Amino acid sequence: MRLDKLVSDAIGVTRKDSKNLIKKGLVSVNGEIIKDAGANVSEDCSLLIEGKKAEYKRFIYLMMNKPQGYISSTDDKRQKTVLDLLDESFSRYDLFPAGRLDIDTEGFLLLTNDGQTAHTLLSPAKKVGKEYFARLEHILTKEDITAIEGGVDIGGYVTKPAKIVQKSDNECVITIVEGKFHQVKKMFECVGNKVVYLKRISFASLPLDPSLGLGEYRFLTKEEVDIIGGSL
Ligand code: URA
Repeated sequence: MRLDKLVSDAIGVTRKDSKNLIKKGLVSVNGEIIKDAGANVSEDCSLLIEGKKAEYKRFIYLMMNKPQGYISSTDDKRQKTVLDLLDESFSRYDLFPAGRLDIDTEGFLLLTNDGQTAHTLLSPAKKVGKEYFARLEHILTKEDITAIEGGVDIGGYVTKPAKIVQKSDNECVITIVEGKFHQVKKMFECVGNKVVYLKRISFASLPLDPSLGLGEYRFLTKEEVDIIGGSL
């Protein structure tokens, strides 16, 4: 990759500013100052810009604790989107939510610009697990749990086997491997109940980081990126 592109991608400056930094001798690659903006360098090189270590990121993966009131979309004229929660510095990365949570659902939303990995994670064939904490309007009975776990018809579609762990009379954690529109809400409607609060607590084997407050986000760690099959 050209050095000026690597520098601008790594620290979020324009190509012009990147070229200036390079010309001024403020960029070193593997310990050597390089003043040629067009030099071909490896994405994995050790990069120092103005004496600070910088890293080129091919893809970005953010774990967000989505609050209610935001839609899982990249652009909307009327409603706030999850991208509105991100720092302005992320605007150049073309991030999008990998999957959707309803406007009134909270919890784990993956934001990335890695289309291939997002596509794989969302593919029904991959049966990627999603865990939700659900609070219900009415008591959840053993019969309802058995019915939902076995699969219910949510309107022309019978859900795949799910797992429910009851937490209280009207609270549970439900694990599903699909992502149909309003799926969890519809599954409980099938047994005459209603979801009054929903939070996704894990996605693709990654638990939501409990230190993230509503609306907060962080980069996935290298290990977490490996687990979801992404690449940094
Ligand atoms: N199921 C729902 O009903 N809503 C969500 O936001 C996610 C899963």
